[in-house]
Formats: sequence, structure tokens, C-alpha cells
Amino acid sequence: MSRKTISPGGHVTGVVELPGDKSISHRYAILAALAEGRSEIFNYATAADCRSTLECLRRLGAEIEATPERVRITGKGLHGLKAPKRALDAENSGSTMRMLSGVLAGQKFTSTITGDSSLRKRPMRRVAEPLRKMGAEIRGSDGDLAPLEIHGGNLRAIDYALPVPSAQVKSAILLAGLYADGVTAVREPVRTRDHTELGLREFGATVLTAKDSIRIQPQPKLIARQLTVPGDLSGAVFLASAALILPDSSLMLHNVGLNPTRAKVLDFLISIGAQINLASVQLRDGELTGDLSVRYSQLSGGSIAGSQVVEMIDELPMLAALGAYTEKGIEIHDAAELRVKESDRIATLATGLRQMGVDVEEFADGLRVACRSAGKLRRAKVDPQGDHRIAMALSVAALGADGDTVIRDAECVGVSFPEFFATLERLRGSGA
Ligand code: S3P
Repeated sequence: MSRKTISPGGHVTGVVELPGDKSISHRYAILAALAEGRSEIFNYATAADCRSTLECLRRLGAEIEATPERVRITGKGLHGLKAPKRALDAENSGSTMRMLSGVLAGQKFTSTITGDSSLRKRPMRRVAEPLRKMGAEIRGSDGDLAPLEIHGGNLRAIDYALPVPSAQVKSAILLAGLYADGVTAVREPVRTRDHTELGLREFGATVLTAKDSIRIQPQPKLIARQLTVPGDLSGAVFLASAALILPDSSLMLHNVGLNPTRAKVLDFLISIGAQINLASVQLRDGELTGDLSVRYSQLSGGSIAGSQVVEMIDELPMLAALGAYTEKGIEIHDAAELRVKESDRIATLATGLRQMGVDVEEFADGLRVACRSAGKLRRAKVDPQGDHRIAMALSVAALGADGDTVIRDAECVGVSFPEFFATLERLRGSGA
């Protein structure tokens, strides 16, 4: 188990090309495997989660050749996947398990999908339920946890209102909708990231979106594409936060995904005083991208609740940790979902930040992180519980500590951002 020691101080400067967005990479890979012809995906995420998706797709028969420059996928067509010989392993990736469940529900064979000990504890009823309504037989272990055995085929179209806003569940239903007998509709209480809808269109499917609903009809085929994945905004936020809290920092992040369903985190940061500027904004393969420049800033702090939580769900650990570096602190509510992520993120953050001397109040649906008015954070040994986003959030918080902070099991950052520590070290090279 690797530990990482974070020495405080210095500043971050320089230019970063972010690895590809994790959410978009999963979707392009899945769609390419279902398409006819050979797709090429450039800037595919280096995240371990996205490798898990490729491995599952290989087991389903897709031909995949991955190099650092691009992932080439020869699709099998919507009806060409084959039954895997053994259980598919989504490892730590909730997106892989939930989205592939939608694809597997459409297949005329039985398959099993499982994951690591963290993923096997995460709720899967939310995806099993609508897929059962469509006619798939799904057997989970106790309380619909993974492993999930999925017996698919002959799906009915449904009109489904998501009880929990979840882009993964929405995506599973839309992917299953490719195989249904009519128009499938998904209604969202709050708009979630729309990469699946955009990706489906790129691969030639017709998807209709209204204010709060998305409709898809069964498609005769998807068509292979060449696409470039934008840089991962959720990863960029960790580096941007380092720049925001270390005096004299100035950072340029190139080609970052700015999809409006993901970029609310930037609005929030700017609203609390962050000096963040956007340039070269353009639409590429249906997704908005641009360059971000970030400078050291005085942050006021504030609160996050309601639809903001859905829009910034993956950035909440970093925003919470930033609370210690604001004037008023950060308070988060309506975020009980954080308790069923890769770890119980509310509890893991509260424990880690308290060990670092921060005053944290924990609520059932969130937390309040007080500003650290009494000086620097305390050096500590913290345990992110194998959760990549907590490991990165605590590492950034540690940059303002009064001494070295040790992050246990720090290799878990590889789940979404394997280059995180090396990049941070490079950017601090001149100042640390
Ligand atoms: C994701 C959706 C979100 C997010 C996750 C990635 C996606 O999860 O937290 O990291 O790619 O669709 P939920 O669908 O559970 O909200």
C-alpha cells in the first residue's frame, strides 16, 4: 500500500494538458463497441475506471487496441456482442457497472457483472429496477448489490421518472432503449450530465431532449466515429484548487471539458472569489471545451444545496476541503448521495479534515467545514479509505499545513487521475 507525503508551501505555476474526461471516455468506448466499423478515440482517459470499461467490452467481444495516443475500437454492432465466458469486472467503477447493465439488459444472453469490495457495497437497485420494468431479469445479491446477473433481451420501452438524479442510471436506461420495442423516455428531477445523449448523437442515434425528459427510439445501427475526449474538468478542479490556495500561483489548464451540465463548479468558485478565466471555448464532437487560467485568490466561502449538488457532485470533496481556506467556510446540504460513493465521502472527509485540525460539523446530508482562522492546517496522517477524490482533496488541503501530511493508500488516485501527484509536483517544481 503506497503512502504519499505532501510537503506544504510553495506555489503552482505552468501549463497542464489534462487526461481525457472519465465520464465521456466510458461512454465513447461503450458506444464504439456497439457501433459498426472502427472508431478511434483520442485523449481517452488514463483513469483505471476507464480501463475497466475497455476490459469488460473486450470480454464482450469488441476488438480494442489501446495506445497512449488513441484507443481504436472495432465495434460489433448493436447485436454482435457475445456472452462473456466469466463475470465482467467493473472493479471500482460505478459508471462501468451501471451503464453496462443497460447494454447487457438488451442482449439475448445471460451475463454477470461484479466489482471490487467498494463497488459491491454500492446501491444497484436504482439501475436494476428500471431495467426490470423494461423486461430484463436481474438478480443481485442481498438488497440488489453486485454481482448482478443479467438475463436480457426483448425489452419494452418505458417512460421512467428517476427517483434519484443519476446520470449513470439515465444512461443505462437510454442504452437499453436502443433495444426496446418503442420510444423510451427518462424524466429527471434535476438535469444530470448529458454526455450519453451527446455521445449517442455523435454515433448517429436520434435522441430527443426536452426540459426535463430525454427520449430515444430503437436504432437500426450506430456508426463508428473518430472523436477526441476533452480534458477532465473534475480532475482539473484539484489542480485549480491548489492554485487558488497557494499564494503567487498561476496555472493554465488546456482543453478542459466545459459541458454546461458539468461546469457549474466553475460558476460556484468564481462566485466565491476565485480568479478563473476561460479562453478558446469551442464545440468539439458535441462537447464544449476551453482553456482555464486560475490564479491565487481570496475565497469568501458559501453554501451548496439543491440542484447544485447534482451539478457538482464529483467536485464536492474538493470544495468541502477548500472550506478551510475560505473566510466563512463551506456548508453543503442535500448531498446524502456522497455517502454511497466510492466511500462514505461525508464521513471520510470529516475524519480526514478533523485530523488536520479543521472544525467540521457532519450532517446526514452534508457537512460544514469551518475556515481555519487559527492559522495553518495541522500536519497529520490521513486515510482516504481507498477513495480517489478524497485522496486528492486531502492532498490539496495539505498544501497549506504546518508540516508534512501523509496520505495513506494514495495510489487510489489512479482510479480517476493517475498523473495527479506527478503533475502537482511538476507544477510546484519552481516554488515548493
Ligand atoms: C457519473 C455520474 C455521477 C458521478 C460519477 C460519474 C457519470 O454518478 O458521481 O462520478 O459518468 O455518469 P451518479 O450517476 O451516481 O450520480
